[in-house]
Amino acid sequence: MSTKTLLSLLLAVSTSLVAAATSFDGPYIQPSISNGAVEWWWAQVIGKAIGDSPPPAFQLLFYQGTFSIYWHCYPIQEGDRDPTLPEYYITINGFLSNGTAISLTIPSDTGDITTTDGSEEVTGTWGTVGSFHLEPDFSSWTVNFTAEEYGLTGNIVFIPNSAEHHFACNTTKDPYFSGAVESLVSNGTTLSDAEDILYNQLGWATTIPGGTAVVDVVVDGIPLQFTGDGYHDANWAPEPLNNIVSTWYFGSGQVGPYDFSYVSATPVSTNSPSPLTLNTGYLSIDGVILQNQCSVEGTKTKDISTITPYGSVEDNGLTIPAGYVLEFVLGDEETYSFNLSSSGQNPDQSIYHRWVGTAVGGNVASGEQLEGSTVFEWLNPGLLVYTP
Ligand SMILES: *[C@@H]1O[C@H](CO)[C@@H](O)[C@H](O)[C@H]1NC(C)=O
Ligand SMILES: *[C@@H]1O[C@H](CO)[C@@H](O)[C@H](O)[C@H]1NC(C)=O
Ligand SMILES: *[C@@H]1O[C@H](CO)[C@@H](O)[C@H](O)[C@H]1NC(C)=O
Ligand SMILES: *[C@@H]1O[C@H](CO)[C@@H](O)[C@H](O)[C@H]1NC(C)=O
Ligand SMILES: *[C@@H]1O[C@H](CO)[C@@H](O)[C@H](O)[C@H]1NC(C)=O
Repeated sequence: MSTKTLLSLLLAVSTSLVAAATSFDGPYIQPSISNGAVEWWWAQVIGKAIGDSPPPAFQLLFYQGTFSIYWHCYPIQEGDRDPTLPEYYITINGFLSNGTAISLTIPSDTGDITTTDGSEEVTGTWGTVGSFHLEPDFSSWTVNFTAEEYGLTGNIVFIPNSAEHHFACNTTKDPYFSGAVESLVSNGTTLSDAEDILYNQLGWATTIPGGTAVVDVVVDGIPLQFTGDGYHDANWAPEPLNNIVSTWYFGSGQVGPYDFSYVSATPVSTNSPSPLTLNTGYLSIDGVILQNQCSVEGTKTKDISTITPYGSVEDNGLTIPAGYVLEFVLGDEETYSFNLSSSGQNPDQSIYHRWVGTAVGGNVASGEQLEGSTVFEWLNPGLLVYTP
């Protein structure tokens, strides 16, 4: 069989994994031991900092599929898959109220999602270690942990604010970023394999763009109880992320009436010398959408979001940014800007930096300097070098 035929077969197989979900927050793909697919339900809660410590923070990932036990926290495949390892994990990162970092990796033999046709109710059950449940009217998302032997028990209740669940690209049609490349493709641009996956097969569904969450857990015997800002989304792809992107900036935040999230993701460049970077941004005020766009970076000057890392921090021999300036330019050129600055980093790894911190800003023309919370990250499997 020629390489080309094999490739088409592989593509056909991976494409067929992608199925329409019956529920917005339900499963969209079927990761298994015999494919490289990944799917995860992510959420984060961030509270108010006391003094100069990082704020209490709790980030959780209910995870299915190819997983790097070495990196502990993300769908990264290093070397061959170890068939003896489980397919399902819960991973936790965050900070206790006194600023001490916490990290847990909890394996599970199963990771089942139950949905009901015609309903938005979703229940996830990760063996005996944890579960989550979305009410059919999206009124709450609750997470329970029952992993005493791994050091995690308790629950979290997320209550969304008025911002509604959404896909990217201002569409309700599907959860993919195809809209960003539609006109390029129809004008004859051929996507590389990684670009095809990033734009057409990597899915994104944001169930809780912003809200309040109450954390009441015990981590390694230490109680962590706080009320904070909460966010929940889900992603999936037919392959682990390091096969798709070389670098990826993602974050979300809540500042006064604003909820925001953004991504800038550069596909791996194996068969494309100048890969098309995906840019997507969401901004709402009191639940009303101001921007929900996706595009190829550099192709538009308005209706875009831009992330500009700033500053320079020496971190285990690497130079990393101190924060990002995130700017949303709407279709009418009205501009919103937020300064995302770090109060703590966890995970802190060469390929993965995640910061909790403060977002300051708002409408630029009116000089708004509102203060809120943010979790922002730099996933860097391609080990790109940051130059301030
Ligand atoms: C934070 O609290 C934990 C648990 O009580 C303790 O082990 C740790 O030393 C504390 N850290 C600081 C910086 O006080
Ligand atoms: C979480 O625990 C509460 C209280 O025990 C229970 O009512 C609820 O059904 C549990 N939710 C899930 C998703 O297991
Ligand atoms: C695609 O081609 C049309 C017609 O030539 C042109 O108007 C449009 O700007 C092109 N779009 C892109 C994204 O290059
Ligand atoms: C989203 O799309 C609708 C039509 O589908 C359009 O009326 C609206 O202006 C768009 N909103 C934004 C923020 O682009
Ligand atoms: C962003 O905030 C940081 C920390 O407060 C500050 O040092 C930096 O000058 C700010 N940058 C901008 C562009 O406002």
